[in-house]
Amino acid sequence: MRLKNKVAMVTGAGGGLGGATAKRFAAEGAAVMCTDLNQDKVSAMVAAINADGGTAQALQVDVGDAQACEEQVSATVERFGRIDIAVNSAGISLHKLVLDTGLEDWERVLRINLTGSFLTASLGEVDAVAGAALFLASNDCQWITGHSLNVDGGYGAAGVSYDFLAK
Ligand SMILES: NC(=O)c1ccc[n+]([C@@H]2O[C@H](COP(=O)([O-])OP(=O)(O)OC[C@H]3O[C@@H](n4cnc5c(N)ncnc54)[C@H](O)[C@@H]3O)[C@@H](O)[C@H]2O)c1
Repeated sequence: MRLKNKVAMVTGAGGGLGGATAKRFAAEGAAVMCTDLNQDKVSAMVAAINADGGTAQALQVDVGDAQACEEQVSATVERFGRIDIAVNSAGISLHKLVLDTGLEDWERVLRINLTGSFLTASLGEVDAVAGAALFLASNDCQWITGHSLNVDGGYGAAGVSYDFLAK
């Protein structure tokens, strides 16, 4: 088990990539705080992980909400003692032509995909998370720690901005 005694916090854990990541981390021995906007999906994912003998807890979080992101850190530290790995996998895709894209659409994508990444990466300065490896959502973040996981290919305005955020 490569993650025995490690603690991971995974956003978007009710979804495909986040859920698969949470499951794999739990199978490798990590305790996993699974967060998602969709309470039903993340609860089902956590139930499946725990049924398989893993250790996970579900939390409903909107990653575009600063206070909710602070709470996902404090809830993880309170429940599992610290954070060793943070995975940012919450996100949305907009399948619209630019001519059909309204300002509301644009701002929603930026709030969730870009601001959400920033807020998820803002783990605070408490000792309990100071050693966390950040798994950010861009191909170009790998040089930071050498431990980055690519979740988003860096598409679109939010993706390009990830690179600036990471640097
Ligand atoms: N699947 C792919 O091939 C692929 C490729 C490139 C990029 N991506 C990006 O990677 C991310 C994850 O992909 P996926 O396939 O797992 O998508 P997914 O839709 O299966 O999962 C995304 C999860 O994020 C959650 N979410 C949405 N808004 C949220 C919010 N405001 N706060 C918290 N959670 C929220 C959703 O409820 C969902 O469970 C997405 O940003 C996606 O655009 C995916």
